[in-house]
Amino acid sequence: MLDLLKRRRSIRKYANKEIEKEKVLKLVQGALLSPSSRNLRPWEFVVVEDKAILEKLSHSKPGGGFLKNAELGIVILGNPEISDVWIEDTSIASSIIHLLSYDLGLGSCWIQIRERNHDDSTSAEEYVRQILGIPEHLKVLSILALGYPDEIKPANSEEDLHYEKVHLNNYGSKFVK
Ligand SMILES: Cc1cc2nc3c(=O)[nH]c(=O)nc-3n(C[C@H](O)[C@H](O)[C@H](O)COP(=O)(O)O)c2cc1C
Repeated sequence: MLDLLKRRRSIRKYANKEIEKEKVLKLVQGALLSPSSRNLRPWEFVVVEDKAILEKLSHSKPGGGFLKNAELGIVILGNPEISDVWIEDTSIASSIIHLLSYDLGLGSCWIQIRERNHDDSTSAEEYVRQILGIPEHLKVLSILALGYPDEIKPANSEEDLHYEKVHLNNYGSKFVK
């Protein structure tokens, strides 16, 4: 697991290769296995394989354009009526999909939708809601763009680990590795 965490990078370039059905199912299973506060599972997911819809979603906000070349998008929704900590729960589900994708030989990148804008008059959430027909009671947290990687990024090294952010026993006491 630590090795996977070191190798994990956000992948935004994808090969023109379909993701096998079994792998899509595993990603869904991983999402549904995510832990949630009080086990309330306040999330829902829209699995998008349709290229035309992925293209539309790629315009959700500036900086999400790489979604149009992804083989798969998973839109992560949260229901605030079910849980007051839906943001935490949906973030965990997003992270699990992201991590699981590497275990399956895929690459992925989180596209933030909550609190982001499509343009001056429309939020990214509203834009996604219109395209996918998402009901008003659900919030849109993120979209995970996924595919077989078409870029190689260096793994994280020991220098990327900021041990100064870790304290031992009391805040300000150094954690020495
Ligand atoms: C909450 C969150 C939101 C993010 N939103 C975006 C995004 O909207 N677009 C994007 O290209 N990357 C996004 N990322 C990916 C980060 O930019 C990336 O994780 C960070 O730069 C570190 O790079 P690495 O994942 O390759 O280690 C997001 C990551 C997180 C955790």
